[in-house]
Amino acid sequence: MKLPTKGMISHREALLKAEHSIAKIKETVSKDLSRQKYHFMAPAYWINDPNGLIFYKGEYHLFYQHYPYGSRWGAMHWGHAKSKDLIHWEHLPIALAPSEPYDLHDRGGCFSGCAVDDNGVLTLLYTGTILIEDGQVIQTQCLATSEDGITFEKFEGNPVIPGPPEDGSVDFRDPKVWKHGELWYMVVGSRKDNTGKALLYKSPDLRAWEYGGVLAESDGTMGYMWECPDFFPLGGRHVLMFSPMGMGNRTTIYLVGDMDYETGKFTWDTMGDIDHGYEYYAPQSFLDGKGRRVIIAWLNAWDWMPWFKDFGPTEKNHWCGAMSAPRTVELDTDGRLRFAPVEELKVLRREHVRLENTIISPGADVLPKYAASDCVEIIAEFQLAGCTAEEIGFVLRSSTDGTQRTMLVYHLPTNELRFDRNQSDGWSEGVPSVILERSGEESLKFHIFIDTCVVEVYTDHYRTVMTNNIYPDPGSIHMEVFSTGGQVTLSSIDIWKLCSAW
Ligand code: FRU
Repeated sequence: MKLPTKGMISHREALLKAEHSIAKIKETVSKDLSRQKYHFMAPAYWINDPNGLIFYKGEYHLFYQHYPYGSRWGAMHWGHAKSKDLIHWEHLPIALAPSEPYDLHDRGGCFSGCAVDDNGVLTLLYTGTILIEDGQVIQTQCLATSEDGITFEKFEGNPVIPGPPEDGSVDFRDPKVWKHGELWYMVVGSRKDNTGKALLYKSPDLRAWEYGGVLAESDGTMGYMWECPDFFPLGGRHVLMFSPMGMGNRTTIYLVGDMDYETGKFTWDTMGDIDHGYEYYAPQSFLDGKGRRVIIAWLNAWDWMPWFKDFGPTEKNHWCGAMSAPRTVELDTDGRLRFAPVEELKVLRREHVRLENTIISPGADVLPKYAASDCVEIIAEFQLAGCTAEEIGFVLRSSTDGTQRTMLVYHLPTNELRFDRNQSDGWSEGVPSVILERSGEESLKFHIFIDTCVVEVYTDHYRTVMTNNIYPDPGSIHMEVFSTGGQVTLSSIDIWKLCSAW
């Protein structure tokens, strides 16, 4: 393969140039009132997938897809931050910048990947994109290492996997690596004949990789390309997560099954959605110091999604994109997954309001005005036995006159939960929804996190999560509980104002 040499720049120069670009704008961005208060963001400009999540030498590291020259996607860099508690993040210098023939291509750069601890050496595996002579782009897997956890050297033997195997195609990206026994294993997302696939590799040293076959692939209904696959053991079983392209409204899928390392085949029996909202994509998992499996995702979606409108109005304020709050992943007794907000989020709790056994009738006005804030956590339980209402739920981020408001509505006759943002802010649109699996008159619980421009809703015993962005005015902070067509008892509601983590 003949590599292009034009436009080459040293990695160090490329990093300095990128840092300089961010330094010029970050002060301005930090004053923007629409910045999230406790969801992770880059200091400025564009961000997409979380990369290289790892608990390394007692600290959490978060890398991310980053374009440090503007608020739209461009040649990909890896931004970098670390945290002691998953909540308060310290920005570190950009870790990877496009600089080599194998990752320089201006519609590519350093694509998504992962981090592993190789005997104390923090090692990144990422996708490099090569523009070959006939104008075709090929995706390859590359490696970079760091002795200090901050400065990364690209491996001189890159790319460690120079191109796709026969089961894949030019779409061949997002390596996720783990150790099993003496060997390292890698799963890579790909496609062939419009079938999304997760391809398996193995290696004794992270540098020499042998192709091990198709770990799993679409059965014809699961999309034409699988991005950001992730594979991990959980509760005696294995989980494959991926973000399918071409699966309609379903954008983050998990499969639960069993792994046979002899044949390299994963046999699954349970499938579910990691999140049902419009803005939750490319979740990546890692095992933390407490033995928890934690995931973080990008709070946005690509323009190939059926509902896609744009990446959001913050672009004009020189930033775009954020990460979800970290969630734990656990296996439920029936083989499905549960996703819960990490306990550490409790450090953000400030003023607290609690109401118990409150009857909600149409036109209700039960929540105290002083509970209003743009950043809150809500835990609420509705008693459905004896409920005569047709719809119950919450009015969120409302202006005083109610012209701006976001509705979280549960429709009792159909069990449908809807997040209606058509009146949120004059910009957001759409009503993402999910049918909750519910038995009889069991009470309905919600756990909700609201930040400046995102709402994360957990329900159905943490088996159903819905994440959506909204962009209301800073003054639209009111909330209410409502019912229509009859009444419902709110067994309890706890509301905490949350403080900023920045
Ligand atoms: C997923 C993705 C990855 C790719 C990266 C590029 O959101 O498309 O497949 O590596 O983003 O930024």
